[in-house]
Amino acid sequence: MTLKTPPIITSETAKSMLEGKTIVSIDLELSQTTIKQTKKGYLLDGIESIDKESLEKIALDSRSVYFVQNKTVYMAAIGGKHFYKLAKTRGAPTLEIDGIRMHRTKNTTPEKDTMEKLQILGINRGRVLDTCMGLGYTAIHAHMSGAEYVVSIEYEPNVVRIAQLNPWSKRLFTEDSIYKLLGDSFFVIDAFPSDHFDYILHDPPRHSSAGHLYGQEFYDKLARVIKPGGRMFHYTGEPRSRYRKVNIQKGITERLGKSGFRDITYHPKVMGVTCTLSTV
Ligand SMILES: C[S@@+](CC[C@H](N)C(=O)[O-])C[C@H]1O[C@@H](n2cnc3c(N)ncnc32)[C@H](O)[C@@H]1O
Repeated sequence: MTLKTPPIITSETAKSMLEGKTIVSIDLELSQTTIKQTKKGYLLDGIESIDKESLEKIALDSRSVYFVQNKTVYMAAIGGKHFYKLAKTRGAPTLEIDGIRMHRTKNTTPEKDTMEKLQILGINRGRVLDTCMGLGYTAIHAHMSGAEYVVSIEYEPNVVRIAQLNPWSKRLFTEDSIYKLLGDSFFVIDAFPSDHFDYILHDPPRHSSAGHLYGQEFYDKLARVIKPGGRMFHYTGEPRSRYRKVNIQKGITERLGKSGFRDITYHPKVMGVTCTLSTV
């Protein structure tokens, strides 16, 4: 399956075009494209075009990502009950939900953040459950690391729409062995057989936005679907952040232990724990 993402314009692309450059990136730095200057503006990919006025506006906004569809310029963002936005960082963009970034970007990049999580877990084969798809970086890298297949779950249809615009998420929609399911992981997981997955990537939003994904009942469900000896990475956030007085790490460790997980180790670099389901 192929997926064509629309031309993407960032402030850098806009500035380069306004400076008269004709070789620019219209896919968030994944490749370079030759664009053509026309009387009214710029022809981007042979179909879509953009005018100078729009470029001047985009050039002033270094935090957003814009795309062009049917000759109209849109910000890659969807509002409603929550505000979902593709946000520019170095390299792969991140997803912001109500202004909260879904990947670490301080002193790192979303791609590096993902690779580090994957390396700590050591996926190189087997069936992988990715409980929180987001932009699909963990699912894509699990697939690229040698997983037999990856099942990735996302609760929010608007996040899927944002991922469909993101050139860095393309493989999520083109790889046959990444299965995408829409729904709340808490319930979707009940449909899987017991002892099924070799690895679980549990990368939820912070505790304050998705507390049920940090609870005993959900950990019991994770323990049911992972094979004995299977390994999990669980993003937990910092044990003691300056916004939080209680050490949520202690509670997470106790609950994982009660569900049968062992070797529960916190990795400060990626702000999460790895653990293994007991074989006895
Ligand atoms: C930290 S992001 C995941 C980032 C992702 N692993 C990646 O590589 O891009 C968390 C995602 O979980 C989704 N989410 C929130 N609650 C969920 C739930 N109950 N079940 C499944 N997904 C959920 C959010 O919409 C968000 O896209």
